[in-house]
Amino acid sequence: MTDWDGAAYDRLADPQARWGRAVLSRLELQGSETVLDAGCGSGRVTKALLDRLPRGRVVALDASSSMLSKARSRLSERLAQVRFVQSDLLKLEPAMLGDDMPVDAVFSTATFHWVTDHDVLFANLASVMRPGAQLVAQCGAEGNIKQLLEAVRSLGVKRAGTWLYPSVADTEARLRSAGFTEVQVWTNAEPTLFADRTVLVDFLEVVCLREHVATLPPAMRRDFVERVAAKMAEPVIDYVRLNIVARKSEDDETDWTMPLET
Ligand SMILES: C[S@@+](CC[C@H](N)C(=O)[O-])C[C@H]1O[C@@H](n2cnc3c(N)ncnc32)[C@H](O)[C@@H]1O
Repeated sequence: MTDWDGAAYDRLADPQARWGRAVLSRLELQGSETVLDAGCGSGRVTKALLDRLPRGRVVALDASSSMLSKARSRLSERLAQVRFVQSDLLKLEPAMLGDDMPVDAVFSTATFHWVTDHDVLFANLASVMRPGAQLVAQCGAEGNIKQLLEAVRSLGVKRAGTWLYPSVADTEARLRSAGFTEVQVWTNAEPTLFADRTVLVDFLEVVCLREHVATLPPAMRRDFVERVAAKMAEPVIDYVRLNIVARKSEDDETDWTMPLET
């Protein structure tokens, strides 16, 4: 899979930053907790998370080296409070978090839909959380960007890449079987208007159609994205978000005082 362009994402991701701040307000924090930001990207939302943790710590995890590099520069004034981890969430292991284990909360925005096995994802997150820890997250839901995907299909192609836009019911069931309680899952439509077609085309190229564009010869990429944008009636992406608030069960019997196997 091709890497993200961390600098371009950072410049364009105003919608994700806006949604991320709203999701962040659902996290209950006193200011001294350790929180895993699962899929921190370029660090814009991570920075807002750190602002709520004057005495706490953040584990900023992402699979992308380009995103982590941008996040390091964004968070340069708070590096003593941040552990950066480069990993696929499907390969997350407690030992990767060192003495930041176990975390008091997991926070994640605009990431879970890029992870295609949510059973493994939720089990891995639970494995690094203390009993009673919060999970607050948002990602694409069933029906996300349906009109955009239709615009792509109208050009005779199917968007390349992998993603999972899950339903509320499937997500509730997966969270419960991974050991979460107090599970709340809901969706909201988030139609997102872009300033003009140029901004929309830039955004589609760097975010929504990134994996598809990477399969095309460089000379054809911009033209393809412009043709998709031309099929859209307005510069609006029909986002639908899946919101998750849950808690890891208090019944977890892991002894966190034991040394972790590496
Ligand atoms: C759209 S960005 C969101 C970044 C940030 N949370 C925000 O809201 O701006 C999605 C991020 O998820 C990361 N990601 C996707 N799949 C991942 C995986 N399997 N493991 C870890 N990170 C992943 C990508 O590298 C990317 O940085």
